[in-house]
Amino acid sequence: MFNKEIYLKRRKQLSKNLKGIALFPCNNEAPMSYPANCYRFRQDSTFNYFFGLLEPMRMAGVIDFDNNQTILFGEDYTIDDIVWMGPQPTIKELAERSGITDSRSYDQLQSYINKAMKEGRTIHYLPPYRHDNQILISKLLNMPIDDVCPKASQALIHEVVELRAVKGPEEVEEMEKICNVGADMQLTAMRNCRAGIIEQQLTGMVEGVAISGGEGTSFATILSQNGQTLHNPYHRNRLANGRLLLVDLGAESHSGYSSDYTRTIPVSGRFTERQKAIYNIVLRANLESIGMARPGIPYWDVHMNACTIIAEGLTQLGLMKGDPKEAAKAGAHALFMPHGLGHMLGLDTHDMENLGENNVGYDNEIKRSTIFGHASLRCGRRLKPGFIVTVEPGIYFIPELIDQWEREGKFTEFINYREVRKYIGFGGVRIEDDILITEDGCRVLGKPLPKTVAAVEAVMRAAAAKRKK
Ligand code: GLY
Repeated sequence: MFNKEIYLKRRKQLSKNLKGIALFPCNNEAPMSYPANCYRFRQDSTFNYFFGLLEPMRMAGVIDFDNNQTILFGEDYTIDDIVWMGPQPTIKELAERSGITDSRSYDQLQSYINKAMKEGRTIHYLPPYRHDNQILISKLLNMPIDDVCPKASQALIHEVVELRAVKGPEEVEEMEKICNVGADMQLTAMRNCRAGIIEQQLTGMVEGVAISGGEGTSFATILSQNGQTLHNPYHRNRLANGRLLLVDLGAESHSGYSSDYTRTIPVSGRFTERQKAIYNIVLRANLESIGMARPGIPYWDVHMNACTIIAEGLTQLGLMKGDPKEAAKAGAHALFMPHGLGHMLGLDTHDMENLGENNVGYDNEIKRSTIFGHASLRCGRRLKPGFIVTVEPGIYFIPELIDQWEREGKFTEFINYREVRKYIGFGGVRIEDDILITEDGCRVLGKPLPKTVAAVEAVMRAAAAKRKK
Protein backbone atom coordinates (compact mmCIF):
# COMPACT_ATOMS: atom_id res chain seq x y z
CA MET A 1 0.00 0.00 0.00
CA PHE A 2 1.23 3.51 -0.79
CA ASN A 3 1.16 6.39 1.65
CA LYS A 4 -2.45 7.42 2.41
CA GLU A 5 -1.85 10.82 0.76
CA ILE A 6 -1.82 9.03 -2.61
CA TYR A 7 -5.35 7.65 -2.09
CA LEU A 8 -6.64 10.98 -0.74
CA LYS A 9 -5.26 12.68 -3.86
CA ARG A 10 -6.74 10.11 -6.24
CA ARG A 11 -10.20 10.37 -4.64
CA LYS A 12 -9.99 14.16 -4.78
CA GLN A 13 -9.08 14.05 -8.48
CA LEU A 14 -11.99 11.73 -9.17
CA SER A 15 -14.35 14.16 -7.44
CA LYS A 16 -13.52 17.04 -9.79
CA ASN A 17 -15.97 16.20 -12.59
CA LEU A 18 -18.63 14.06 -10.95
CA LYS A 19 -21.81 14.66 -8.98
CA GLY A 20 -23.71 12.21 -6.76
CA ILE A 21 -22.21 9.11 -5.18
CA ALA A 22 -19.82 6.44 -6.42
CA LEU A 23 -20.00 2.93 -5.04
CA PHE A 24 -16.92 0.67 -5.19
CA PRO A 25 -17.52 -2.87 -3.92
CA CYS A 26 -14.33 -4.81 -3.25
CA ASN A 27 -13.73 -8.35 -4.43
CA ASN A 28 -14.58 -11.27 -2.20
CA GLU A 29 -12.98 -14.65 -1.67
CA ALA A 30 -13.92 -17.00 -4.53
CA PRO A 31 -14.34 -20.65 -3.53
CA MET A 32 -12.41 -23.12 -5.64
CA SER A 33 -13.78 -26.48 -4.49
CA TYR A 34 -15.59 -25.71 -1.20
CA PRO A 35 -16.17 -22.44 0.69
CA ALA A 36 -13.02 -22.62 2.81
CA ASN A 37 -10.78 -23.58 -0.13
CA CYS A 38 -10.51 -20.45 -2.24
CA TYR A 39 -8.62 -19.27 -5.31
CA ARG A 40 -5.77 -16.84 -4.60
CA PHE A 41 -7.51 -13.66 -3.45
CA ARG A 42 -7.23 -10.78 -5.89
CA GLN A 43 -8.57 -7.34 -4.95
CA ASP A 44 -10.52 -5.38 -7.52
CA SER A 45 -8.04 -3.09 -9.26
CA THR A 46 -10.15 0.07 -9.10
CA PHE A 47 -10.92 -0.49 -5.41
CA ASN A 48 -7.19 -0.97 -4.93
CA TYR A 49 -6.44 2.22 -6.90
CA PHE A 50 -8.71 4.47 -4.83
CA PHE A 51 -8.51 2.77 -1.42
CA GLY A 52 -5.31 0.68 -1.45
CA LEU A 53 -6.82 -2.01 0.77
CA LEU A 54 -5.90 -5.50 -0.33
CA GLU A 55 -7.40 -7.51 2.54
CA PRO A 56 -9.93 -10.18 1.54
CA MET A 57 -12.64 -8.65 3.72
CA ARG A 58 -16.21 -7.74 2.92
CA MET A 59 -15.87 -4.02 2.15
CA ALA A 60 -17.29 -1.29 -0.07
CA GLY A 61 -16.00 2.23 -0.52
CA VAL A 62 -18.40 5.09 -1.15
CA ILE A 63 -17.36 8.52 -2.37
CA ASP A 64 -19.99 11.22 -1.96
CA PHE A 65 -18.93 13.87 -4.49
CA ASP A 66 -21.56 16.41 -3.39
CA ASN A 67 -20.55 16.40 0.28
CA ASN A 68 -16.85 15.71 -0.14
CA GLN A 69 -17.07 12.59 1.98
CA THR A 70 -15.62 9.07 1.76
CA ILE A 71 -17.03 6.18 3.74
CA LEU A 72 -15.64 2.68 4.11
CA PHE A 73 -18.31 0.08 4.83
CA GLY A 74 -16.98 -3.22 6.06
CA GLU A 75 -17.47 -6.30 8.16
CA ASP A 76 -14.91 -6.91 10.90
CA TYR A 77 -13.55 -10.41 11.27
CA THR A 78 -15.21 -12.53 13.96
CA ILE A 79 -13.33 -14.31 16.72
CA ASP A 80 -13.78 -17.55 14.75
CA ASP A 81 -12.00 -15.93 11.78
CA ILE A 82 -9.19 -14.74 14.06
CA VAL A 83 -8.80 -18.21 15.59
CA TRP A 84 -8.47 -19.54 12.01
CA MET A 85 -6.33 -16.77 10.46
CA GLY A 86 -4.60 -14.94 13.31
CA PRO A 87 -5.02 -11.29 14.35
CA GLN A 88 -6.57 -9.09 11.65
CA PRO A 89 -7.04 -5.31 11.27
CA THR A 90 -10.44 -3.83 11.98
CA ILE A 91 -12.37 -1.90 9.34
CA LYS A 92 -11.68 1.29 11.31
CA GLU A 93 -7.93 0.62 11.17
CA LEU A 94 -8.07 -0.15 7.46
CA ALA A 95 -10.04 3.04 6.81
CA GLU A 96 -7.38 5.07 8.62
CA ARG A 97 -4.62 3.52 6.50
CA SER A 98 -6.46 4.85 3.46
CA GLY A 99 -7.04 8.31 4.94
CA ILE A 100 -10.75 7.67 5.64
CA THR A 101 -12.19 8.88 8.93
CA ASP A 102 -15.72 7.54 8.43
CA SER A 103 -16.00 3.77 8.66
CA ARG A 104 -19.29 1.95 9.16
CA SER A 105 -20.45 -1.63 9.44
CA TYR A 106 -21.30 -3.38 6.21
CA ASP A 107 -24.94 -3.88 7.18
CA GLN A 108 -25.44 -0.09 7.08
CA LEU A 109 -24.64 0.04 3.37
CA GLN A 110 -28.15 -0.88 2.20
CA SER A 111 -29.86 1.82 4.30
CA TYR A 112 -27.27 4.39 3.14
CA ILE A 113 -28.02 3.53 -0.51
CA ASN A 114 -31.80 3.49 0.12
CA LYS A 115 -31.60 7.03 1.52
CA ALA A 116 -29.53 8.25 -1.43
CA MET A 117 -32.00 6.69 -3.88
CA LYS A 118 -34.95 8.28 -2.07
CA GLU A 119 -33.22 11.65 -2.39
CA GLY A 120 -32.90 11.04 -6.13
CA ARG A 121 -29.11 11.16 -6.10
CA THR A 122 -27.08 9.60 -8.91
CA ILE A 123 -25.35 6.43 -7.79
CA HIS A 124 -22.40 5.68 -10.06
CA TYR A 125 -20.83 2.24 -10.19
CA LEU A 126 -18.48 0.43 -12.56
CA PRO A 127 -19.61 -2.66 -14.50
CA PRO A 128 -19.07 -5.57 -12.09
CA TYR A 129 -17.28 -8.53 -13.67
CA ARG A 130 -17.83 -10.91 -10.77
CA HIS A 131 -21.22 -12.51 -10.30
CA ASP A 132 -21.35 -11.93 -6.55
CA ASN A 133 -20.89 -8.19 -7.11
CA GLN A 134 -23.51 -8.23 -9.86
CA ILE A 135 -25.93 -9.77 -7.34
CA LEU A 136 -24.83 -7.25 -4.68
CA ILE A 137 -25.49 -4.24 -6.91
CA SER A 138 -28.77 -5.69 -8.12
CA LYS A 139 -29.91 -6.00 -4.49
CA LEU A 140 -28.52 -2.68 -3.27
CA LEU A 141 -30.01 -0.69 -6.15
CA ASN A 142 -33.12 -2.85 -6.44
CA MET A 143 -32.69 -3.49 -10.14
CA PRO A 144 -32.96 -6.65 -12.26
CA ILE A 145 -29.61 -8.39 -12.50
CA ASP A 146 -29.63 -8.16 -16.30
CA ASP A 147 -29.70 -4.35 -16.02
CA VAL A 148 -26.68 -4.10 -13.72
CA CYS A 149 -23.87 -4.07 -16.31
CA PRO A 150 -25.67 -2.05 -19.00
CA LYS A 151 -26.58 0.62 -16.44
CA ALA A 152 -23.03 1.10 -15.12
CA SER A 153 -21.97 4.74 -15.08
CA GLN A 154 -20.30 5.85 -18.32
CA ALA A 155 -19.26 9.08 -16.59
CA LEU A 156 -17.48 7.20 -13.79
CA ILE A 157 -15.86 4.83 -16.30
CA HIS A 158 -14.49 7.81 -18.23
CA GLU A 159 -13.05 9.55 -15.16
CA VAL A 160 -11.51 6.34 -13.77
CA VAL A 161 -9.90 5.49 -17.11
CA GLU A 162 -8.37 8.96 -17.46
CA LEU A 163 -6.84 8.74 -13.98
CA ARG A 164 -5.64 5.15 -14.07
CA ALA A 165 -4.20 5.45 -17.60
CA VAL A 166 -1.56 7.96 -16.50
CA LYS A 167 0.74 6.25 -14.04
CA GLY A 168 2.21 8.28 -11.18
CA PRO A 169 5.87 7.97 -10.12
CA GLU A 170 4.94 5.62 -7.28
CA GLU A 171 3.22 3.34 -9.78
CA VAL A 172 6.14 3.43 -12.23
CA GLU A 173 8.44 2.38 -9.39
CA GLU A 174 6.20 -0.62 -8.66
CA MET A 175 6.00 -1.44 -12.36
CA GLU A 176 9.79 -1.38 -12.68
CA LYS A 177 10.12 -3.83 -9.79
CA ILE A 178 7.54 -6.25 -11.13
CA CYS A 179 8.97 -6.02 -14.64
CA ASN A 180 12.26 -7.16 -13.15
CA VAL A 181 10.48 -10.22 -11.74
CA GLY A 182 8.90 -10.83 -15.17
CA ALA A 183 12.36 -10.57 -16.75
CA ASP A 184 13.70 -13.11 -14.22
CA MET A 185 10.86 -15.45 -15.17
CA GLN A 186 11.89 -15.18 -18.82
CA LEU A 187 15.56 -15.75 -17.97
CA THR A 188 14.54 -18.84 -15.98
CA ALA A 189 12.74 -20.18 -19.06
CA MET A 190 15.75 -19.48 -21.30
CA ARG A 191 18.19 -21.08 -18.87
CA ASN A 192 16.15 -24.22 -18.20
CA CYS A 193 14.62 -24.88 -21.61
CA ARG A 194 15.88 -28.12 -23.11
CA ALA A 195 14.62 -31.00 -25.18
CA GLY A 196 13.01 -33.86 -23.31
CA ILE A 197 11.27 -31.99 -20.52
CA ILE A 198 7.53 -31.27 -20.48
CA GLU A 199 6.34 -27.67 -20.90
CA GLN A 200 4.63 -27.95 -17.50
CA GLN A 201 7.99 -28.51 -15.76
CA LEU A 202 9.30 -25.25 -17.16
CA THR A 203 5.99 -23.55 -16.34
CA GLY A 204 6.42 -24.61 -12.72
CA MET A 205 9.93 -23.10 -12.63
CA VAL A 206 8.90 -19.73 -14.07
CA GLU A 207 5.77 -19.50 -11.92
CA GLY A 208 7.93 -20.21 -8.86
CA VAL A 209 9.87 -17.03 -9.69
CA ALA A 210 6.60 -15.06 -9.77
CA ILE A 211 5.57 -16.43 -6.39
CA SER A 212 8.99 -15.77 -4.86
CA GLY A 213 9.24 -12.24 -6.26
CA GLY A 214 5.61 -11.12 -6.01
CA GLU A 215 2.09 -12.41 -5.44
CA GLY A 216 2.27 -14.90 -8.30
CA THR A 217 1.54 -14.70 -12.01
CA SER A 218 -0.35 -11.76 -13.47
CA PHE A 219 -2.24 -14.00 -15.90
CA ALA A 220 -2.24 -17.65 -16.93
CA THR A 221 1.25 -18.44 -18.23
CA ILE A 222 1.50 -19.19 -21.94
CA LEU A 223 4.44 -21.53 -22.48
CA SER A 224 4.06 -23.65 -25.55
CA GLN A 225 5.76 -25.17 -28.55
CA ASN A 226 2.45 -24.50 -30.28
CA GLY A 227 3.01 -20.76 -30.18
CA GLN A 228 0.74 -20.33 -33.19
CA THR A 229 -2.15 -20.48 -30.69
CA LEU A 230 -2.21 -16.96 -29.30
CA HIS A 231 -3.22 -17.72 -25.72
CA ASN A 232 -2.29 -21.39 -25.47
CA PRO A 233 -3.06 -22.66 -21.95
CA TYR A 234 -1.85 -26.25 -22.66
CA HIS A 235 1.49 -27.21 -21.09
CA ARG A 236 1.74 -30.96 -21.65
CA ASN A 237 3.95 -31.19 -24.75
CA ARG A 238 7.43 -32.63 -24.51
CA LEU A 239 10.01 -30.12 -25.72
CA ALA A 240 11.76 -31.23 -28.88
CA ASN A 241 14.87 -29.96 -30.64
CA GLY A 242 14.04 -27.99 -33.76
CA ARG A 243 10.90 -26.46 -32.26
CA LEU A 244 10.37 -22.92 -31.03
CA LEU A 245 9.01 -22.29 -27.54
CA LEU A 246 6.81 -19.22 -27.07
CA VAL A 247 6.81 -17.94 -23.49
CA ASP A 248 4.34 -15.17 -22.60
CA LEU A 249 4.16 -14.48 -18.90
CA GLY A 250 4.16 -11.92 -16.14
CA ALA A 251 4.22 -11.42 -12.42
CA GLU A 252 1.94 -9.47 -10.12
CA SER A 253 3.40 -7.30 -7.38
CA HIS A 254 2.20 -7.32 -3.77
CA SER A 255 0.55 -3.98 -4.55
CA GLY A 256 -1.30 -5.46 -7.55
CA TYR A 257 0.76 -4.25 -10.56
CA SER A 258 1.41 -6.53 -13.55
CA SER A 259 4.26 -7.23 -15.91
CA ASP A 260 3.79 -8.93 -19.28
CA TYR A 261 6.70 -10.23 -21.40
CA THR A 262 7.00 -12.54 -24.35
CA ARG A 263 10.11 -14.20 -25.66
CA THR A 264 10.34 -16.96 -28.25
CA ILE A 265 13.29 -19.27 -27.92
CA PRO A 266 14.66 -22.29 -29.80
CA VAL A 267 14.35 -25.48 -27.73
CA SER A 268 17.77 -26.62 -28.96
CA GLY A 269 19.40 -23.31 -28.01
CA ARG A 270 20.09 -22.49 -31.70
CA PHE A 271 17.63 -20.92 -34.11
CA THR A 272 17.46 -22.55 -37.56
CA GLU A 273 17.95 -20.23 -40.55
CA ARG A 274 14.21 -20.28 -41.26
CA GLN A 275 13.36 -19.50 -37.63
CA LYS A 276 15.93 -16.69 -37.61
CA ALA A 277 14.38 -15.10 -40.70
CA ILE A 278 10.88 -14.99 -39.18
CA TYR A 279 12.22 -14.00 -35.75
CA ASN A 280 14.15 -11.06 -37.15
CA ILE A 281 11.06 -9.65 -38.86
CA VAL A 282 9.22 -9.69 -35.54
CA LEU A 283 12.26 -8.23 -33.79
CA ARG A 284 12.37 -5.36 -36.28
CA ALA A 285 8.67 -4.67 -35.68
CA ASN A 286 9.27 -4.68 -31.92
CA LEU A 287 12.30 -2.37 -32.06
CA GLU A 288 10.81 0.08 -34.58
CA SER A 289 7.60 0.28 -32.56
CA ILE A 290 9.56 1.14 -29.43
CA GLY A 291 11.46 3.73 -31.48
CA MET A 292 8.20 5.31 -32.65
CA ALA A 293 6.24 5.38 -29.38
CA ARG A 294 6.12 8.89 -27.93
CA PRO A 295 3.54 11.36 -26.58
CA GLY A 296 0.99 12.50 -29.13
CA ILE A 297 1.33 9.64 -31.59
CA PRO A 298 -1.77 7.42 -31.96
CA TYR A 299 -0.86 3.89 -30.97
CA TRP A 300 -2.89 2.94 -34.03
CA ASP A 301 -0.09 4.44 -36.18
CA VAL A 302 2.56 2.44 -34.34
CA HIS A 303 0.45 -0.69 -34.79
CA MET A 304 0.00 0.00 -38.52
CA ASN A 305 3.74 0.49 -38.93
CA ALA A 306 4.41 -2.83 -37.19
CA CYS A 307 1.87 -4.60 -39.43
CA THR A 308 3.57 -3.08 -42.48
CA ILE A 309 6.97 -4.34 -41.29
CA ILE A 310 5.50 -7.83 -40.88
CA ALA A 311 4.05 -7.65 -44.43
CA GLU A 312 7.36 -6.30 -45.81
CA GLY A 313 9.41 -9.06 -44.20
CA LEU A 314 7.06 -11.78 -45.36
CA THR A 315 7.07 -10.33 -48.86
CA GLN A 316 10.86 -10.55 -48.90
CA LEU A 317 10.56 -14.21 -47.91
CA GLY A 318 8.03 -14.83 -50.67
CA LEU A 319 5.07 -15.57 -48.39
CA MET A 320 3.33 -12.31 -49.28
CA LYS A 321 3.35 -10.20 -52.43
CA GLY A 322 2.26 -6.79 -53.64
CA ASP A 323 2.66 -3.51 -51.77
CA PRO A 324 3.21 -4.29 -48.04
CA LYS A 325 1.62 -1.01 -46.96
CA GLU A 326 -1.53 -1.74 -48.95
CA ALA A 327 -1.52 -5.35 -47.70
CA ALA A 328 -1.34 -4.24 -44.06
CA LYS A 329 -3.98 -1.55 -44.58
CA ALA A 330 -6.37 -4.11 -46.06
CA GLY A 331 -5.64 -6.57 -43.22
CA ALA A 332 -3.90 -9.25 -45.31
CA HIS A 333 -1.00 -9.37 -42.81
CA ALA A 334 -3.53 -10.63 -40.21
CA LEU A 335 -3.20 -14.16 -41.57
CA PHE A 336 0.15 -14.02 -39.75
CA MET A 337 -0.51 -11.46 -37.01
CA PRO A 338 -4.21 -11.68 -36.10
CA HIS A 339 -3.83 -9.46 -33.01
CA GLY A 340 -3.02 -5.88 -32.12
CA LEU A 341 0.37 -4.44 -31.25
CA GLY A 342 -0.41 -4.02 -27.58
CA HIS A 343 -2.57 -2.94 -24.70
CA MET A 344 -2.36 -0.76 -21.62
CA LEU A 345 -0.71 -2.34 -18.62
CA GLY A 346 -0.91 -1.47 -14.93
CA LEU A 347 -3.01 -2.88 -12.12
CA ASP A 348 -4.40 -5.30 -14.70
CA THR A 349 -2.50 -7.07 -17.44
CA HIS A 350 -5.07 -5.77 -19.91
CA ASP A 351 -5.39 -2.62 -17.88
CA MET A 352 -8.99 -1.69 -17.06
CA GLU A 353 -10.39 -4.12 -19.62
CA ASN A 354 -13.36 -4.65 -17.28
CA LEU A 355 -14.31 -1.03 -17.99
CA GLY A 356 -14.66 -1.76 -21.71
CA GLU A 357 -11.81 -1.98 -24.22
CA ASN A 358 -13.18 0.87 -26.30
CA ASN A 359 -13.48 3.13 -23.25
CA VAL A 360 -9.83 2.46 -22.40
CA GLY A 361 -8.04 2.25 -25.73
CA TYR A 362 -10.15 4.47 -27.99
CA ASP A 363 -11.83 7.85 -27.81
CA ASN A 364 -13.88 10.30 -29.87
CA GLU A 365 -10.93 10.87 -32.17
CA ILE A 366 -9.73 7.31 -32.83
CA LYS A 367 -12.33 4.63 -33.34
CA ARG A 368 -11.72 0.91 -33.41
CA SER A 369 -11.25 -0.76 -36.80
CA THR A 370 -13.65 -3.54 -37.77
CA ILE A 371 -11.08 -5.29 -40.01
CA PHE A 372 -9.97 -8.73 -38.76
CA GLY A 373 -6.62 -8.36 -36.99
CA HIS A 374 -6.76 -4.58 -36.68
CA ALA A 375 -10.00 -4.97 -34.72
CA SER A 376 -8.03 -6.80 -32.03
CA LEU A 377 -5.87 -3.76 -31.26
CA ARG A 378 -6.85 -2.95 -27.68
CA CYS A 379 -5.29 0.50 -27.58
CA GLY A 380 -5.36 2.82 -30.59
CA ARG A 381 -5.55 6.22 -28.92
CA ARG A 382 -2.88 8.92 -28.80
CA LEU A 383 -0.19 8.15 -26.25
CA LYS A 384 0.43 10.42 -23.27
CA PRO A 385 3.33 10.64 -20.83
CA GLY A 386 2.65 8.18 -18.02
CA PHE A 387 0.89 5.60 -20.19
CA ILE A 388 2.34 2.10 -19.95
CA VAL A 389 1.64 -0.14 -22.95
CA THR A 390 2.89 -3.47 -24.22
CA VAL A 391 4.66 -3.77 -27.58
CA GLU A 392 4.07 -7.30 -28.86
CA PRO A 393 4.24 -7.94 -32.57
CA GLY A 394 4.17 -11.54 -33.77
CA ILE A 395 4.08 -13.91 -36.72
CA TYR A 396 2.13 -17.14 -36.47
CA PHE A 397 1.27 -19.99 -38.83
CA ILE A 398 -2.21 -21.09 -37.78
CA PRO A 399 -3.21 -24.10 -39.93
CA GLU A 400 -6.97 -23.63 -39.44
CA LEU A 401 -6.80 -19.93 -40.42
CA ILE A 402 -4.58 -20.64 -43.43
CA ASP A 403 -7.01 -23.37 -44.58
CA GLN A 404 -9.99 -21.08 -44.18
CA TRP A 405 -8.50 -18.06 -45.94
CA GLU A 406 -7.18 -20.17 -48.80
CA ARG A 407 -10.55 -21.92 -49.19
CA GLU A 408 -12.25 -18.53 -49.29
CA GLY A 409 -9.68 -17.15 -51.71
CA LYS A 410 -8.96 -14.29 -49.34
CA PHE A 411 -6.34 -11.70 -50.28
CA THR A 412 -4.89 -13.81 -53.10
CA GLU A 413 -3.37 -10.56 -54.44
CA PHE A 414 -1.23 -10.31 -51.28
CA ILE A 415 -0.72 -13.89 -50.05
CA ASN A 416 1.27 -16.64 -51.70
CA TYR A 417 -0.55 -19.60 -50.19
CA ARG A 418 1.74 -22.19 -51.79
CA GLU A 419 4.74 -20.77 -49.92
CA VAL A 420 2.74 -20.23 -46.70
CA ARG A 421 1.77 -23.93 -46.61
CA LYS A 422 5.46 -24.84 -46.32
CA TYR A 423 5.49 -23.15 -42.89
CA ILE A 424 2.68 -25.21 -41.35
CA GLY A 425 4.13 -26.73 -38.19
CA PHE A 426 6.48 -23.76 -37.69
CA GLY A 427 4.55 -22.45 -34.65
CA GLY A 428 4.68 -18.78 -33.82
CA VAL A 429 6.99 -15.97 -32.76
CA ARG A 430 6.05 -13.08 -30.47
CA ILE A 431 8.41 -10.60 -28.80
CA GLU A 432 6.89 -8.38 -26.13
CA ASP A 433 8.17 -5.60 -23.91
CA ASP A 434 6.47 -3.16 -21.56
CA ILE A 435 7.11 0.54 -22.21
CA LEU A 436 6.48 3.73 -20.29
CA ILE A 437 5.66 6.80 -22.38
CA THR A 438 7.92 9.62 -21.18
CA GLU A 439 7.87 13.36 -21.92
CA ASP A 440 9.83 12.92 -25.14
CA GLY A 441 9.66 9.26 -26.13
CA CYS A 442 9.43 6.03 -24.22
CA ARG A 443 11.44 3.78 -21.96
CA VAL A 444 11.44 -0.01 -21.77
CA LEU A 445 10.63 -1.03 -18.22
CA GLY A 446 12.61 -3.59 -16.27
CA LYS A 447 16.13 -4.87 -16.60
CA PRO A 448 17.50 -5.61 -20.08
CA LEU A 449 16.25 -8.97 -21.30
CA PRO A 450 17.93 -10.79 -24.21
CA LYS A 451 16.07 -10.16 -27.42
CA THR A 452 18.33 -10.54 -30.44
CA VAL A 453 19.04 -13.99 -31.87
CA ALA A 454 22.65 -13.76 -30.65
CA ALA A 455 21.70 -12.63 -27.14
CA VAL A 456 19.06 -15.34 -26.66
CA GLU A 457 21.41 -18.03 -27.96
CA ALA A 458 24.24 -16.78 -25.70
CA VAL A 459 22.09 -17.09 -22.55
CA MET A 460 20.93 -20.57 -23.57
CA ARG A 461 24.46 -21.66 -24.47
CA ALA A 462 25.88 -20.48 -21.14
CA ALA A 463 23.14 -22.30 -19.22
CA ALA A 464 23.70 -25.52 -21.21
CA ALA A 465 27.44 -25.35 -20.52
CA LYS A 466 26.77 -24.90 -16.81
CA ARG A 467 24.45 -27.91 -16.79
CA LYS A 468 27.19 -30.06 -18.37
CA LYS A 469 29.78 -29.19 -15.72
N1 GLY B 1 0.39 -11.39 -22.64
C1 GLY B 1 -0.90 -11.90 -22.35
C2 GLY B 1 -2.00 -11.07 -22.89
O1 GLY B 1 -1.80 -9.98 -23.34
O2 GLY B 1 -3.15 -11.50 -22.84
